[in-house]
Amino acid sequence: CACALILGMLLLLFIPCLCSGQPAPPLLRFSSFLGPSNMVYLRWDLDEQEMMTFELQVHTTGWVAFGFSPHGELPGSDIVIGGIFPNGSIYFSDCHVVDEATLEEDESQDYQLLSLTEDETFTTMLFKRHLRTCDLNDLDITVDTARLITAFGTDDTVQFFKGQRFSKSLFLMRYRDASDSADPKIFFTYDLRLDNFAVPVEETKYACTFIPLPMVKQKHHIYKFEPVITPHNITLVHHILVYACGNASVLPSGIDDCYGADPDFALCSQVLVGWALGGESYQFPDEAALSIGTPLDPQYIRLEIHYSNFDLLPGLIDSSGIRIYYTPELRKYDVAVLQTGIFTFPVHFIPPGAESYRSYGLCNTSQFDEMNGMPVPELHVFAYLLHTHLSGRGVKAAQYRNGEQLGIICEDNKYDFTLQEIREMKEILTIKPGDEILVECTFQTLDRSGITFGGPSTMNEMCLTFLFYYPRNNISSCMGYPDILYIAHVLKQEASDTMEGIMAMDLLDWDNETIKTAEKAAKEADQVVAIKTINELQKNERGLIRDIIIPERAACHNISENLSLSDLRAATNLRLAAVHGSESSTTKEKSSLLLLSLTQLVFAWLILSSELWM
Ligand SMILES: *[C@@H]1O[C@H](CO)[C@@H](O)[C@H](O)[C@H]1NC(C)=O
Ligand SMILES: *[C@@H]1O[C@H](CO)[C@@H](O)[C@H](O)[C@H]1NC(C)=O
Ligand SMILES: *[C@@H]1O[C@H](CO)[C@@H](O)[C@H](O)[C@H]1NC(C)=O
Ligand SMILES: *[C@@H]1O[C@H](CO)[C@@H](O)[C@H](O)[C@H]1NC(C)=O
Ligand SMILES: *[C@@H]1O[C@H](CO)[C@@H](O)[C@H](O)[C@H]1NC(C)=O
Ligand SMILES: *[C@@H]1O[C@H](CO)[C@@H](O)[C@H](O)[C@H]1NC(C)=O
Ligand SMILES: *[C@@H]1O[C@H](CO)[C@@H](O)[C@H](O)[C@H]1NC(C)=O
Ligand SMILES: *[C@@H]1O[C@H](CO)[C@@H](O)[C@H](O)[C@H]1NC(C)=O
Repeated sequence: CACALILGMLLLLFIPCLCSGQPAPPLLRFSSFLGPSNMVYLRWDLDEQEMMTFELQVHTTGWVAFGFSPHGELPGSDIVIGGIFPNGSIYFSDCHVVDEATLEEDESQDYQLLSLTEDETFTTMLFKRHLRTCDLNDLDITVDTARLITAFGTDDTVQFFKGQRFSKSLFLMRYRDASDSADPKIFFTYDLRLDNFAVPVEETKYACTFIPLPMVKQKHHIYKFEPVITPHNITLVHHILVYACGNASVLPSGIDDCYGADPDFALCSQVLVGWALGGESYQFPDEAALSIGTPLDPQYIRLEIHYSNFDLLPGLIDSSGIRIYYTPELRKYDVAVLQTGIFTFPVHFIPPGAESYRSYGLCNTSQFDEMNGMPVPELHVFAYLLHTHLSGRGVKAAQYRNGEQLGIICEDNKYDFTLQEIREMKEILTIKPGDEILVECTFQTLDRSGITFGGPSTMNEMCLTFLFYYPRNNISSCMGYPDILYIAHVLKQEASDTMEGIMAMDLLDWDNETIKTAEKAAKEADQVVAIKTINELQKNERGLIRDIIIPERAACHNISENLSLSDLRAATNLRLAAVHGSESSTTKEKSSLLLLSLTQLVFAWLILSSELWM
């Protein structure tokens, strides 16, 4: 019929810009290099249909591959491969890794190619997919840290297992970029950093010092933070935290151990900003920022720099820190940070040899009004930062009101110690005074022979979530820890809450059964909830750990159900030949081989569209 013809003609106009010309590229706000020496560059963004678009640019004229790994390993990875043959034919296919030597094409093709181009140096592949497809061979894109895999070859003979390959942890679910924010017309910068600090020859060093904030005569807003890292040939600076100090504290001078002999170096507990290896700069949303220059504001901060001198190199000098940007152009709200999770203390312990061990810390906000000195306004949470040490595998914070779980505030079930950064909430979340915030951390200690205690060093553990919110109140932290006497009783240990008593847990003969018993006992035990204000006032109360209900996942999307103009590539089913490492392709795979040149593609579309429209 006539419509088929008209549609066909329309398509003729469309196709060059879909597959070989210069498509108007979608605005992809986020980007990152995925390999060393900048060979692989990824740009990505999420659209209103909740589809994620990726543009992979690789320094090669051969095949390129990109995908998701379960935890960094190859088997089970979800991979998309594409390229352009010397004769101009495009190939593109959604595959999965079966084992260390076998890559198989998925029955269901859930990646849509938008364009594939190549010049003398680069191959650029633009494609999109749903966050959750219905194909079990695809991995979901979630708020967890993604483990990305990229690979490429020097020519178009796809040999996935022989190509160059990189993996990288990256957080993909970003909602706002610095370029989405309004910059003030007038601004100043100021550095909070150490001055030629001689890094000791120790594996772990927490160096702390107290630095005044800029002296301003009237209220200003700090709206942006940027890491200033002294370049070294090793990754020396592991993380940086900036804490605000209340008026009440008399602060020591100089640089010392944060958690050493002088307890004054651990003063000031309100986190203002966190940066860790892999993080970037951070800018607050336009409606809020951190206040300085009023009597209520902090005048000093504690700068905490965590050095990891694993190779025990002598003579390292460091002047790293954080650069702040501040402005007299005031925003509507003042920002503050609420620290929740497990009180960092050895009553929090993790047995050795645990595949997965969960610990809990409760915050009950019902005492907030009293602690604050006046009613606390609702907290509008817009961002969060999750923090554990090396054995942390997941962090999750749930919110409860009147005993009912409202939802998950933030989580990362694939937590990567090397990627700690401030992450945006998708939507602003409201916490009302009286709500409870329960933080659950999951640890893995298969590689450890001794017990891991809660504590500040990297070999100890922490379980924290920092919630960034406005408008501010006077509460700086609200954290829980379990009643150790109860746990000791269940484990038939000497009931003692002295340090010796706690350390005696290490003498237990841990097996998977005692591990489960300890985990259960620590969850059942009463929690002591410690609430602190910015002026270091502290109040303890007791509470209980509720269950965390995991919400149902969103429905999956099957793109082959819908054939529309935009699904052009999926419909034409551009496919790749067998790409087995063993090259033992079956006839079934060979028959699915359908390589289309530009003209073939147009032809295929004419047939397809007339089938649809006749
Ligand atoms: C282009 O080259 C590939 C690989 O050699 C071949 O499979 C394909 O049929 C060729 N296409 C055209 C249109 O010649
Ligand atoms: C880094 O530099 C130091 C000297 O400044 C040297 O001793 C060390 O071997 C270097 N390390 C690496 C990994 O290159
Ligand atoms: C800090 O001290 C000033 C006076 O020096 C006082 O007005 C202000 O209320 C104090 N701030 C806090 C948070 O206590
Ligand atoms: C903090 O507490 C003081 C009283 O101790 C009160 O005057 C002040 O308004 C409180 N600040 C906020 C932001 O609630
Ligand atoms: C617990 O079981 C896992 C295997 O599931 C094993 O690797 C681990 O060593 C066991 N832990 C202990 C303490 O026996
Ligand atoms: C939080 O505190 C309120 C008031 O004291 C209490 O009713 C509630 O049970 C506490 N929540 C938990 C989880 O302990
Ligand atoms: C397919 O079309 C239906 C109806 O328009 C729509 O509800 C659904 O979301 C579409 N599915 C996909 C995968 O786009
Ligand atoms: C997706 O839709 C196609 C076409 O309707 C169907 O053949 C296929 O089984 C569906 N796949 C899944 C996983 O539901």
